[in-house]
This record gives sequence, C-alpha cells and structure tokens, in this order.
Amino acid sequence: MRLAILLSGRGSNFQAIHEAVQRGELDAEIVLVISNRPDAPGIAKAREYGYDAHVLDNKTFPNRAMHEDAVLRALDAARPDYIALAGYMRLLSAPFIERWRNRIVNIHPSLLPSFPGVDAQAQAVAYGVKVSGCTVHFVDEHLDAGPIIVQRTVRVEDGDTAETLSARILVEEHGAYVEALGVLARGVRVDGRRVVRE
Ligand code: GRF
Repeated sequence: MRLAILLSGRGSNFQAIHEAVQRGELDAEIVLVISNRPDAPGIAKAREYGYDAHVLDNKTFPNRAMHEDAVLRALDAARPDYIALAGYMRLLSAPFIERWRNRIVNIHPSLLPSFPGVDAQAQAVAYGVKVSGCTVHFVDEHLDAGPIIVQRTVRVEDGDTAETLSARILVEEHGAYVEALGVLARGVRVDGRRVVRE
C-alpha cells in the first residue's frame, strides 16, 4: 500500500505511522509527505526519516485552487493508494475529494458524529460526556463526516481539561491510525456509510 501523508503541524500521527512501518507492523510504504506549513515540525521529521518531503505553502500561492493544484500534481506523481491527513489544517475542495473518493483518510479527536470541527476535546469536556475518543474516517464533502473505518474510546475523568483529555486521546489516535491503515491494506469495500472489511 502506497501512502501519502498531508500534515500542517506537530506530526505525531505521521510519526506513529512511520514507526509502525519501520517495525513491520504496517505493510505500507510512505511515498510522499506534504506540509502546507514550512515550519511544521512534522515536515522536519519527514526529511530526517528520508522521505520525499514537500512544503507547499498555501501562503505563497495566489489562491486556494492553485495551491490545491500543486498538491494534486505532487500526489499524481507519487501515485499513492491512500492519502492520510495527519493534522492537515486545510479544507479540501469537492473536486479534490471526488478525484480521490474513498482514498482520503482523516483522524479526528472525538467519537464522530459527536463534536466535529475544531477543539473537539474541549467540546467533549464542556458537554460533560463520560466517554470520548477518536475516529479514523474517509473524507467526504462534509466536515468530519465520511464513512468510519476505526474508532477508539477514551474515558473522560472528573477534573479532565481539554489538555489532559487531548493527551490521552492522542495516545489512542496513534494506535487507531495504524490499525485503520492496516484495515485498508487488507482491503475494504464502502457500502453507503459502512466500511466493510474484505
Ligand atoms: C490530532 O489531534 C488529530 O486528531 C487532529 O489534529 C491533531 C494532529 O496531531 N486532526 P499531530 O500533528 O498528528 O501530532
């Protein structure tokens, strides 16, 4: 399975995927890493690990469409089977999603469909839920809404803040992302909203 990673920041999910590949736990090859932020720690890691690492800084493109075209060209050249969004803080356009239908994967730090959007962990704490977690899902045209591949739960403890809950969810994110990519590597079929393992 050929994997492209898109990120904007810290890159701890990317690092977890890299380490799983290195350990032979995930049968995948990371063929491309793209960051839209030149200062993202994740892209520095990608260079350090020796990957084909590109900065495509959206601020240096005249508009959103031209930035996305550059991302699409890099993806077309690298020919990934799947694109893993790992903290990529840009919305993808409908034509981009259509071009890679059911081949773009995202991780979100809540049990979707609860708490989509930004600050999902803070939303969970504020709402008072007793269980939250993370969701790995295909990307469709709606925010944090595509078919779900893997979810993991995390208990919300009394006294949790957005920060303490985020830290515990992040540990589960790393396992969930690797698990979900393993599921994809072994083969799935998307039946409406349901992702069925083959
Ligand atoms: C994670 O919490 C992920 O769920 C969200 O963005 C964060 C990225 O973290 N989409 P990292 O850059 O992978 O460390």
